[in-house]
Amino acid sequence: MKLFRMFSAGASGRHPVLTRPRQQVFLAQKISRRYCLAAVTLFAIQSVVALAGALDLVIPDLPSPIPFEFGRAIHLGFAVLWPLIGTMGMVYYFTAAELNREIFSPRLARWQFGVVLVFALSVYVTLSLRIGNGREYLEGMPALYLGIGLALLLAAYNLVRTLWADKHHITPAAAIMTVGILFLLILLLPNVLHYDNPTLDEAAKFWVVHLWEEMAFELTTAGFIATFFIVAGLAVREKVEKWLYLEAGLAVTGGLYSTGHHYFWIGVPSLWLVLGALISLLEVVPVVMLVQMTYVGLKSSKANNTTGIKSKREKLTLWLILSSLLYHVTGASVFGLMITVPWVNLYVHGTYTTSAHAHLALFGSMGFLVLAGCYYVLSRGSEPTQAGYKAGVLAVLLLNIGLIGMGTALLVAGFLQTYLWRVLGRDFMQVSLLLTPYLLARVLAGGMFALGDFLLIWQIYAAWWRTRKNPS
Ligand code: HEM
Ligand code: HEM
Repeated sequence: MKLFRMFSAGASGRHPVLTRPRQQVFLAQKISRRYCLAAVTLFAIQSVVALAGALDLVIPDLPSPIPFEFGRAIHLGFAVLWPLIGTMGMVYYFTAAELNREIFSPRLARWQFGVVLVFALSVYVTLSLRIGNGREYLEGMPALYLGIGLALLLAAYNLVRTLWADKHHITPAAAIMTVGILFLLILLLPNVLHYDNPTLDEAAKFWVVHLWEEMAFELTTAGFIATFFIVAGLAVREKVEKWLYLEAGLAVTGGLYSTGHHYFWIGVPSLWLVLGALISLLEVVPVVMLVQMTYVGLKSSKANNTTGIKSKREKLTLWLILSSLLYHVTGASVFGLMITVPWVNLYVHGTYTTSAHAHLALFGSMGFLVLAGCYYVLSRGSEPTQAGYKAGVLAVLLLNIGLIGMGTALLVAGFLQTYLWRVLGRDFMQVSLLLTPYLLARVLAGGMFALGDFLLIWQIYAAWWRTRKNPS
């Protein structure tokens, strides 16, 4: 394989010498730019919608054209769909880079973009018109999710055909990214149906809310991080991809059975209490392996005097990847495990504690990662200036401070809510009023988050604009 040959043992014999692979620009990579541009734009809009919703919670009579419940539904629609659109673009970009050849059909990828964008926008527009079905996270009309499913089907077909075209040279990273997309498709399909039985309805819903995030996206994440290190010439292929299949296997097993931590109280047999609680422990292992893979990648790039991370573009990408890993460990794994203990979950279930975890895990782990990939894709061929790089780092910092601020305010609100409402049995509305100062703190932290969001998106737009004619 071409890329393999680029790495050979160094003079000292200790560290293989890395040369940056010369990368051709493939059509797939040009097309992936539109996915990434759409994803970051939707993320910017999400912050505005979210801030309005957060304000509405502390100023209930705030004049708004959209009632809170539909605003929340739109916010959750963004939370699910922009990371999906960004991931589609990243997977095309990094699969072509990883295999060092074109994907099966760039034309299909173009069509797929049109399909996913039209249906995602239709979800937001119909929800703004107060047309929805009340299923949390998947609140748009079911037919619209069929459209998202169609886009995933096109992606899955395109990627499988791409791998099949040269099946002797399939790399682990390309393979697990494709499997990730296949899972996204398979897990969404049961959610385009309507279930009269509420238990079945909840059970299927978590195939997206949980399994998309904690299984399918974990595969695309691992594939992206591995490929980033390899194609940027920062790390030796053998080192980063050594455990990739094992990591993927554990992510699938752990992710699948730990769905049980969402099934505690939905009316399924109590076996799920044991499965959900115990197998959730396993979920932490692939996260540790992801951190280890990044550490190995970073170490081998530092150990190599000739390459190392000199490019500001790669440094900024790394800041975003490292932020994602921070929340993988803290907001997702540690916090997730704490609320998974059934005796704890019995009390905190569905309170602001869940909201704290949801923000720290969903944006923290997935959001940062997709932003890293999209920044890398859209800035190809352009190094940021020193000022641009500093602005980018400031944006990452603001996003982190804002997210930690929101998470802390929600955690305190969740703790009080649990204690006063669930433990002491005080009236729900009275308790809700007592939470106002913490929800106000969340608005302030959210404002800082939104500032970071706009600053980063500005940098990403600037990079896209500079490279729009020739992303060499
Ligand atoms: C990237 C990883 C993760 C993401 C994106 C994520 C995301 C979420 C989201 C969005 C919710 C809210 C669902 C709802 O509103 O019903 C949630 C709930 C939950 N998560 Fe996670 N999570 C992650 C990892 C984990 C891990 C590793 C664990 C445990 C080991 C965990 C345990 C839980 C539990 C127990 C709940 C239910 C809380 C309740 O009963 O209200 N999560 N997660
Ligand atoms: C300016 C930043 C943000 C603000 C002010 C904000 C505010 C809100 C509000 C008001 C709610 C509904 C009530 C609540 O549960 O607290 C909510 C829920 C939620 N938000 Fe955000 N949000 C922000 C950013 C994000 C981002 C970037 C994501 C993910 C990409 C996200 C994911 C979620 C999720 C998953 C829920 C449901 C939580 C649950 O199940 O309880 N939010 N957010």
